[in-house]
Amino acid sequence: MANTGSSISAPLKRAAGAVQAAPRDGFATGLGVLTATLGSAVGLGNIWKFPFLTGANGGAAFLIVYLISTLLVGLPVMISELTMGRTARADAITTLQKLSPSRKPWWLIGAIGALSAFMILAFYTEVAGWVFAYIFKSLSAAALSTNPEVTSQAFSGLVTDPVQSLVWQWIVLGLVGFIIILGVSKGIENTTKRLMPVLFLLLVAVCVRSLTLPGAAKGLEFLLKPDFSKVTGLTMLTAMGLAFFKLSIGMGTMITYGSYFREDQNIPITATRVMLADLSVSLLAGMAIFPAVFAFGFEPSAGPSLLFITIPAVFASMPLGHFFMVIFFILAAIAATGAMLSLFEVPVAYMSERLGMSRRTATLLTMALLVLFGSAAALSNSVLADFKVLGMTMFDLYDFTTSNIFLPVGGIFICLFVGWVWGMDQVKKSLSNNGILKNEGIARLFLFLVRFVSPVLILLVLLQGLNIL
Ligand code: TRP
Repeated sequence: MANTGSSISAPLKRAAGAVQAAPRDGFATGLGVLTATLGSAVGLGNIWKFPFLTGANGGAAFLIVYLISTLLVGLPVMISELTMGRTARADAITTLQKLSPSRKPWWLIGAIGALSAFMILAFYTEVAGWVFAYIFKSLSAAALSTNPEVTSQAFSGLVTDPVQSLVWQWIVLGLVGFIIILGVSKGIENTTKRLMPVLFLLLVAVCVRSLTLPGAAKGLEFLLKPDFSKVTGLTMLTAMGLAFFKLSIGMGTMITYGSYFREDQNIPITATRVMLADLSVSLLAGMAIFPAVFAFGFEPSAGPSLLFITIPAVFASMPLGHFFMVIFFILAAIAATGAMLSLFEVPVAYMSERLGMSRRTATLLTMALLVLFGSAAALSNSVLADFKVLGMTMFDLYDFTTSNIFLPVGGIFICLFVGWVWGMDQVKKSLSNNGILKNEGIARLFLFLVRFVSPVLILLVLLQGLNIL
């Protein structure tokens, strides 16, 4: 794959690091860069959000808007962030401070990003908690029934129980915190290197099962045959928000990961690979889910509970369903873990590098803050079910404001920064690894997009979706 020389340079690099005083941690191998970045992109976004949003917004038409957003907006912003991070070699806030002209408040993008990290993690760790819980529930068959009413009751039993909700969230926080404390190369890189291939294999297995069911073709048709009458302003905003969420952009995750990239990493190519692999995982997840949903006559538009109510009923209806359901939730748990690692890394990098905390203290503090922030999401189906802001529970509010407002706004400013403030020569220099890569054409196309196309598109979709235009 990416770097054949990496196996030689990695041990050398680590050995060199050991003798220097406090070297900055980073991804040691080209493969590690790819699995960690892909690990960030692939997550509950693919396995939970993508299927339910596609199901609820009319299938293929939504998919097309999502694809356009990914290409014209997602990829340019991702390349921007990775390049900025690698140039500054610092956490998201410091990166913007380092690269921008003095006394300009561009660092605020990083600050809002850190806030977004907490808000996303607050609900993300909860959904991840359900996923982990479901691995065990599928083992015990408590949630496995062909009747969606029974599976629905099993799911409400979990989410309306405040103790179970909180405890599963804490288990997830503990696991992610443990890996983060191990460090960037020993924790994040090692974990994603081992788990990402497993995830792919498991997903393909479930997909083959689903596609070979009688009646599967209808599900494929739903995913591939567009009906544009379903596309509204809010649909477009939702699709674009999903593109941001999926690629982990708009809030500093990719800036932070970019700062751990190797000097010789080809950023435009890496970003494109990650985008394509992430898209493949989403499509595979769609092909694992919708054909089975249709084959057994369930509703595709079940919303957020699709994964926990419809899917178990679907599994219960098929031969070997019990086994496949365990596999399915294990793969979802793996996907969620890689993504949460990247979200955690944003505040942890800032606190440990800028505020002088040890990595351990920074991680423990992040975990403590999340116990606080996260409980509002965890309890939003039980004790806090009636506590609503702007008509949304805290869970929905965290999700809606980050995906549909903070990430797109962050994206606009990142484009403006790279396109208009940072300097064209500097951008070309960074994208070409100081002139070593001959990618002048790509750099020009990239600059055209981030200067004129992406920010305008994001703004239009944002205003349309929020009913302002
Ligand atoms: N991309 C991940 C997913 O699809 C979620 C995620 C990780 C994320 N880091 C992020 C979303 C940063 C927004 C911003 O599940």
